[in-house]
Amino acid sequence: MDYKSLINTSELPGHVAIIMDGNGRWAKEHNKPRIFGHKNGVLSVRSVVEGAGEIGLKYLTLYAFSTENWNRPKVEVTALMQLLVATISKEVSTLNKNNVRLLTIGDIESLPGNCEKELEKAKEKTKNNTGLNLVLALSYSSKTEIVNTVKAIAKDVSEAKIGLDEINDTLIDDYLETATIQDPELLIRTSGEYRISNFLLWQIAYSELYFTDKLWPDFTKDDLFEAIVNYQKRERRFGMTSEQLTN
Ligand code: FPP
Repeated sequence: MDYKSLINTSELPGHVAIIMDGNGRWAKEHNKPRIFGHKNGVLSVRSVVEGAGEIGLKYLTLYAFSTENWNRPKVEVTALMQLLVATISKEVSTLNKNNVRLLTIGDIESLPGNCEKELEKAKEKTKNNTGLNLVLALSYSSKTEIVNTVKAIAKDVSEAKIGLDEINDTLIDDYLETATIQDPELLIRTSGEYRISNFLLWQIAYSELYFTDKLWPDFTKDDLFEAIVNYQKRERRFGMTSEQLTN
């Protein structure tokens, strides 16, 4: 099915977020070590980023490494970090060619030095691009982000920079790491798991959720297009009735 041609490009979701899951199981199915799954996962990242650019998506956030992922075997964490460094340094010119701006959320400082440096360099090199904003969530925990936000707001209240009555959901939006990024309209999770796993908890309040059994290394831009077509068939009511929306 040619899902791309079915997409209504004037009603695109402004932001699609993806929980990329299933690399390990994919590797196991192929009788290979887990890192083989991650390496093939990079090809899916490439395909999806390319697809996002083709249809003119504004924001794409990929959950590449959670805070909890630090608890994985050390060899896997090291290999993932190396893969990340190699991928970023290899792809930065392609990102530039395609007008993609790279952003990150998460505790980037906790990543190995070379990884952090490579990311900072890539962000700097792509900062003036005006096409797709590719947001990598790395060493990211939504609860930690919210804790940091609460602390920052409490500090500003205690220093009388803001008043207690000024705290509302827009102000909280502005203190989150995602302050400059609109909320995702569509959240995709691969590999047949139905969890949010500490990802963008505040920001997905009204997101449409899309789950697919495909393991991440089998997911391509066509699957992204299919998810968007599915999203566009849904009626987003934001707590209202269908009648209110059509009137
Ligand atoms: C989930 O599969 C995948 C990850 C935790 C890592 C995702 C990383 C990549 C796709 C590669 C690097 C990314 C970029 C942006 C260059 P899993 O290992 O949890 O799979 P399992 O649930 O089957 O074990």
